[in-house]
Amino acid sequence: MMLVCTASMVCYVNAQTTSPYRDKKLSIEQRIADLLKRMTVEEKAGQLNQLNGGAFTGPAANDPGQKAKMDMVRKGQVGSMLNVSGTAETRVIQEIAVKESRLGIPVIFALDVIHGYKTIFPIPLADACAWDPELSRKAAEIAAKEASAEGLHWTFAPMVDISRDPRWGRVMEGAGEDPYLGSIIGAARVKGFQGNFGKDNLLACVKHFAVYGAIEAGREYNQVSVDKVNTWNMYFPTYRAAVEAGAATVMNSFNVYEGVPASGNAWLVNEVLKKQWGFKGFLVSDWNSFGEMIQHGYAKDNKDVAMKAINAGSMMDMETRAMVTEIPALVKEGKVSMKTLDAAVGAILYWKFRIGLFDDPYMNCDPQREKQNVFITEHRLLSRQAAQRSVVLLKNSQQVLPLQQNQKIALIGHFAASSEDIFDFWVANAKSDPYKPSTLLDGLKEAGVTYAFAKGYDEQLNTSDVMIQEAITVANASDIVVVNIGISGKLAGEDRSIAMPEIPEAQLQLLKALRNTGKKIVAVISAGRPLVLTKAKPFCDAIVYAWILGTEQGNALTDVLYGKYNPSAKTVMSFPYAVGQIPVYYNHMNTSRPNPTDGQGNWYSRYRDIPNEPLYPFGFGLSYTTFSYGKPSVSASSIGMNGTVTIQVNVTNSGKLAGEEIVQLYIRDPLATRIRPVKELKGFQKISLAPGETKVVSFTLNKSTMQYFDENGKPQLEPGKISIFVGGNSRDLQELILNLQ
Ligand code: NOJ
Repeated sequence: MMLVCTASMVCYVNAQTTSPYRDKKLSIEQRIADLLKRMTVEEKAGQLNQLNGGAFTGPAANDPGQKAKMDMVRKGQVGSMLNVSGTAETRVIQEIAVKESRLGIPVIFALDVIHGYKTIFPIPLADACAWDPELSRKAAEIAAKEASAEGLHWTFAPMVDISRDPRWGRVMEGAGEDPYLGSIIGAARVKGFQGNFGKDNLLACVKHFAVYGAIEAGREYNQVSVDKVNTWNMYFPTYRAAVEAGAATVMNSFNVYEGVPASGNAWLVNEVLKKQWGFKGFLVSDWNSFGEMIQHGYAKDNKDVAMKAINAGSMMDMETRAMVTEIPALVKEGKVSMKTLDAAVGAILYWKFRIGLFDDPYMNCDPQREKQNVFITEHRLLSRQAAQRSVVLLKNSQQVLPLQQNQKIALIGHFAASSEDIFDFWVANAKSDPYKPSTLLDGLKEAGVTYAFAKGYDEQLNTSDVMIQEAITVANASDIVVVNIGISGKLAGEDRSIAMPEIPEAQLQLLKALRNTGKKIVAVISAGRPLVLTKAKPFCDAIVYAWILGTEQGNALTDVLYGKYNPSAKTVMSFPYAVGQIPVYYNHMNTSRPNPTDGQGNWYSRYRDIPNEPLYPFGFGLSYTTFSYGKPSVSASSIGMNGTVTIQVNVTNSGKLAGEEIVQLYIRDPLATRIRPVKELKGFQKISLAPGETKVVSFTLNKSTMQYFDENGKPQLEPGKISIFVGGNSRDLQELILNLQ
């Protein structure tokens, strides 16, 4: 027994040092059982409470102020805090929890560490364009190493929502439109963050469960309407893969699914996530998503909210405070069983024990580690490599790229010199000065090339005759124009929906003027989403899609422009031809009238004013070299339902530079009891080839890769024909036929 005195001199006999839950030799399950026995219902409800402790990443409506928050920690009413970081800041709070609360249960600290902590990596959407799960894993690992060195234990990432709508600001956070690639990248990110749950790792949080990527019209917090077959085949696979990769936590989404908000949706949480997928971790709500069940029209008041959330299987409450205030009464009234409450609290305690918080609550509060692990050269180098690999080359007429070292460059565009615009909404703790990202202008300077700069347009994305004239003068004096256009990184992230994801009018004007100088035009496009490039494309000889690349943006772009890195990325979202085409994605259904039906080009599913196809399809991206594909072959033309086939194709580097190619395999099941998309990605390989070199690329297909799900989530595969397609993007493919018997 030990006498503990708090700062306010409230002294009590604290059993914590000798109690079995403190005993490292016992199993986690034994320790949890002991602790649950000692906890009051109020303390249990406290574990379900997550408080905001810093900058707001949601409405501030519920904030009780710092003093009240610390009092809650003292009373054992806080299980977790978000948006607090730093070794000193987290230590102060942890000391209150550990030394001043009755049972000394440590707090778990969380932050949105989305693509780096202080060394910022490319936005996840860009990183996914590398089609390199090991690179994505490594980026997450480094983010975890930095964040954990500054007091954090848990990140709200990866976001694995399938994203088809570039109006939505959050497409930047995920891996794009495809469930197969998205599953592989999501799983890699989970593994990168979590490692072996050591000190340098963070717990991952798979979000937003479920189907949040399908919000209507790309408008944040909007409605979702997706049928079950589509849910199982398009939207669920990424969450499931991330859960199967061992993710410790999952976040409820804001949206409603089939009439019931995700936070109170027992089918999503209890039935699918826990029962069918065997998820054993804990769930956290999204910011006030429990409370917002009231606005949705599903819950009457906070008591109803808490009851519906916990009985649906949801657990930790981010910023509603319904759990901590309402659970005790609900238990007393028999509306929430102690078993349900213990299951939720036990799941949270499990992870606190598992990462060692009970044994060393200050494990991430070591200022020495903070100095050694954060924003170090090794991390910046990796961020630069990741950025090089994220850049998608969309156009390169007459090999205008790579640039030559001796060319005089006209560097045009406000973004080329603005590090501010490289910061998106989710840059964790990198916003202050020493973490300033390199701009394209910095990159050119560093590379020692000759350049002159003109703004061309301003922060508001307006231009003027004077700015255009300046740009023309600089262009006239140069050998080639590099113009950085697009939209600011500030428009990428939560609550950043836009209705017109296009190249702004002023930039089109600028492009036109530059085009008239007769100089070759290289457009470097910055944006956290695919923009409509249809009007800009004719004015550009080359289009380098730069996304938002993080700390090393300028250096990495310079590497790509000068061919120090030969671009290899391929887009993971289709680039719409026009805004009115959105959502446009490669894995769409055939429709009843895919082609003209009357021999005269009429009566079919189309637009009268634009093509059906996107400007650039999923999986598309160029290199400074070229690749040619041989005729693919399949090991058997017919197999039984449980058989396996191998598909092979020779890929040759037919150009003059070494390069990497992402070889893709798609299938189509043209006749099924639940209709299937015209193409579905089922395999890819990224290979390096020297000039003239050929490699044989092999893929295998079997039942588990070809099957689909019915509305009950049951796998299906029927005998018949399967088309197999191989190629370098989702449009330019060669077809093989396989018979399934
Ligand atoms: C709301 C966002 O939807 C979610 O992704 C994020 O993790 C939380 N806010 C916390 O910042």
